[in-house]
Order: sequence, then structure tokens, then C-alpha cells
Amino acid sequence: MHSVEVVAERRYAVEVGILWREKLEEILAIHQRAIIFAPQFVVERFSLEGLVSDRVLLHILPEGENQKTIHEWERALDRCAAHNLTRSDAVIAIGGGATTDLTGFVAASWLRGIAWYAIPTTLAAMVDAAIGGKTGLNTVHGKNLVGAFYSPAGVYIDISFLDSLSDRDFAAGLAEVIKTGFIGEAKILELLVATRDLNEVRPLAEELIALSAGFKARVVSGDFREGRLREILNYGHTLGHAIEKAEKFQLRHGEAVAIGLVFAGELSSVAVGLDAEAVALHRSLLSRFELPTQYPASALPMLIETMRGDKKARGDQMRFIGLESIGTPTWLEAITVDQISQAYGRISS
Ligand code: GLY
Repeated sequence: MHSVEVVAERRYAVEVGILWREKLEEILAIHQRAIIFAPQFVVERFSLEGLVSDRVLLHILPEGENQKTIHEWERALDRCAAHNLTRSDAVIAIGGGATTDLTGFVAASWLRGIAWYAIPTTLAAMVDAAIGGKTGLNTVHGKNLVGAFYSPAGVYIDISFLDSLSDRDFAAGLAEVIKTGFIGEAKILELLVATRDLNEVRPLAEELIALSAGFKARVVSGDFREGRLREILNYGHTLGHAIEKAEKFQLRHGEAVAIGLVFAGELSSVAVGLDAEAVALHRSLLSRFELPTQYPASALPMLIETMRGDKKARGDQMRFIGLESIGTPTWLEAITVDQISQAYGRISS
């Protein structure tokens, strides 16, 4: 078992390699009442109905990004009211990143803050979404534009959930792991470069998750509210989020981020001279795991429009995270549309 501590507005542990049912029993022993939030397929696959009692309710969510709506948030608050959740009670997310984002935001807003726990079931949630206390919703204006920084009381990662994950979902989560390798956790790249395909990566999952979670925990502990340092976790995400919006969330987050990572590598080459070998490593690693690395040329004007509304933008200035070299992220503050077009020209199909 690996355990790392996050120090934010509260301290909490991210434990990798636990048994989720044991952890859940521990959580339920601390709180008088609780609501478990999970999408239907997770409820069925892991027999969550059996956990219901007079103290513990199950709140079923739609799948994917569809659960991160104002309507679902309101429906969840109604359930908190119906179960009389008080400030000593808790909500527990069992699911992927969308479930942890919504559950965390319900916890942040109900009674101005109750405890919440994350039991992530996807690789993407284990290495990214469940850790760090970014909670929130999507609106018509864009992804994650409404939310709160609100830490969980614990993140419990049982890697046996990964056995039920499709290769496509596993690879999508791997995009975030690869990102972490590029921005600072060298051991991740060392491990992945030595593999040939997903079958060779799956046995490394626990080590890769522990490395990714440990890196993220350090960054979040240094800058919980994303004053600056935490922005490095956004490497590849500025274009990635714009692609997700363009695709109406039909691409996996990690698939859009994979394209965004290659773009970020190319933009780093244009803006700060990242060497060609490092850029090539982005393409070769991501395509090895069958992640996309290209996007249509015709989409650029729409993508630029969306990137102007990115949370890192300041006034009219689009900002990106780039790399000076592998492991050394940098802030690209004064990027021109010409530089974006040049970099995008190298990733467009
Ligand atoms: N997913 C990026 C962050 O948590 O800051």
C-alpha cells in the first residue's frame, strides 16, 4: 500500500492499493448518515445496492459528463435534504472523474460544506480527478466553469477496479499519467518507454498510479487554489478542453488531452525551443497506446475561440503550459495566434 498526504485547506491521505469495501466500512463507521453517489453501471457492476441501510442511501447518477449538470446537482441536494444530512455526515463518490467532480461540489455546497470521500473506479479519476479538491459542474458556457476548491476527507484507490476497465478507458487515463511524466515525474516515462503496449502497462498500474498521485499531491500541497504552480497540471489541457467541447464530450477527456499534449509539445518547440526528440516522444508514447495525436485543420478558429475562455486566460491573453525540456514546465504567457497556428499545423490532419 502506498499513502501520500495532501496538505490543502485540510490534510488528507491518498491511499493506493487498498480494498474499497474495507475502506467504505471505516468511513461508514465514522459518520452517522451517508449517501453514496454512483452511476448506474457502477451500482450494478459492484453490487452497491447491498450497501443500503437506514443510515446509508444510494444516489444514482447518469453516466459520464451528463452527471455534471445543474439539474443533477439540484437533484443531489434534494436527496441530501431528504436524508437529513448534517455537518457530521458525508457523501461518498464511487465512480469516475465526473462522479468525483459532482459529489465534491455537492459536499462543498450542502450546508456550506460536509465531508466527502472519493473511491475512484477509473484510471483517469485515480491519477487526476479524485485528487486535489477541484469540484464542479459543466454549463452551457463550458466545462468546469462552475465549481469550488474543496478537498475530500480521503481518496481510496483500489486498483482491482481497473480489471473491469476497457482498453480505451485505460488508455484515456494513461494520457494523464504520461502528462505527469512530461511535467516532472521522470520515473513514469522511464517505465512507459520500456513497454510496447497496454498489456505491458496494466501490470505497472499500481506503481504508475502511486507515482502520479504522489506528484499531484506535492503540486496541490504547494498551490491548492491554483495561484500559479498548480497550472502545470494543465499541460496539454488548454487545447484538450477545447477539443472536448468541440466534440460535445463524445471523446474521452484523456483522448482530447492526448491531442492537446502533442500540441503543447509542438507549441513549446515553437515558443521556447523544446527539442525535436522530446516532441517526438509525446507522439510516440501516446500513439503506442492508441491515443489520438491529430485533429482537423479546419477546427482551429473554433478551438482558438474556446481557448480564449480557458481558466488560465488573463484578459485577452491566452496562456499555456509548455516545456523547456522534459521535466521542466514553463508558463507561455504571450503566445500569438501565429505561434498557435504554426504548432497546430504540425498536429492537424
Ligand atoms: N486536473 C488538474 C488539476 O487538478 O489541477
